[in-house]
Amino acid sequence: MHLDYNDPIAWLEHRYDCDVQARNTSVERKLLSFFKPHESVLHITDVGAGTGTNVCYYFTKLNHQQEWTLIEQHRSLMQAARERLRKFAAQQGYRWDEQPDEIQLVDGDKKATIRFVTGNVDHIEDFTNLEQTDVLVANAFFDLLSFDQFDTLIKKLASHNVAFLSTLNYYETSFYPFLEEDHQIVRWYHMHMKRPQPFGISMGADCCEEMLDLLMRHHLMIEQESSQWHLKRGNTTMQHYILHFIENALGELNLTSAEQKLLNRWLNTRKEQLHNRTLEIIVDHNDIFATE
Ligand SMILES: C[S@@+](CC[C@H](N)C(=O)[O-])C[C@H]1O[C@@H](n2cnc3c(N)ncnc32)[C@H](O)[C@@H]1O
Repeated sequence: MHLDYNDPIAWLEHRYDCDVQARNTSVERKLLSFFKPHESVLHITDVGAGTGTNVCYYFTKLNHQQEWTLIEQHRSLMQAARERLRKFAAQQGYRWDEQPDEIQLVDGDKKATIRFVTGNVDHIEDFTNLEQTDVLVANAFFDLLSFDQFDTLIKKLASHNVAFLSTLNYYETSFYPFLEEDHQIVRWYHMHMKRPQPFGISMGADCCEEMLDLLMRHHLMIEQESSQWHLKRGNTTMQHYILHFIENALGELNLTSAEQKLLNRWLNTRKEQLHNRTLEIIVDHNDIFATE
């Protein structure tokens, strides 16, 4: 199969089913029961919204009228989100009404109005009315942000009493069968996540710990459970992606020639195992729901 690793839209599409299987149902139940179906509309802001997967996932599950604001830094992904939601509506038999600034998704009596904003979460208050927002949701997002960005965001949410749901927060990758070099490879991979970037240093694999620590300091009620990808033997597409991400990341690390040799040896073994369908990859995440 040909995979275009440089196409984020295809990657987000591929990971969707794994995320659906991994999302923690107990954390999800807390969210669904927290907002009693009421006459007023539920206002949801999705940050790092990508191609709109959270809308696809929650529209049916939430028993509410919904107003969504999707915030994503890349314009091309916001355009792809419209396209994806249009396909989603067609597949599910939902009515679809498209305006230049927003779309509406209608299933019988239930309606979601969805606004698309291209922008950085650092300026969230410019894109969405936090006073009115009931919950901020994010999927596979906060490992990409720095602790300071997260801290600033949580202060804004806390001052407006906005609930917080963050799913698929990354913390570890493991491989089976074990290899001696795994530990070193994953350590380098996590180091790459924490390379200096224009906005600072991402929380990377420390995001769960750092997020929980900060949420606790705000004395919020917190639910957290694991949401694991288990990429079994033969799940070659996702396994190809993971090996590619590791190869690419470590290629940017200025490894010595001895370290590069170790990496190449490890990659060759893992690619062979992938090819022979003897490889399993486990990617550990957690899901967090926090409220006042
Ligand atoms: C791993 S993707 C997840 C997308 C989507 N939530 C999903 O589950 O399919 C993370 C997304 O966050 C976006 N992103 C990263 N930093 C951002 C920021 N500071 N502000 C807004 N979006 C950001 C990226 O462009 C990317 O689309």
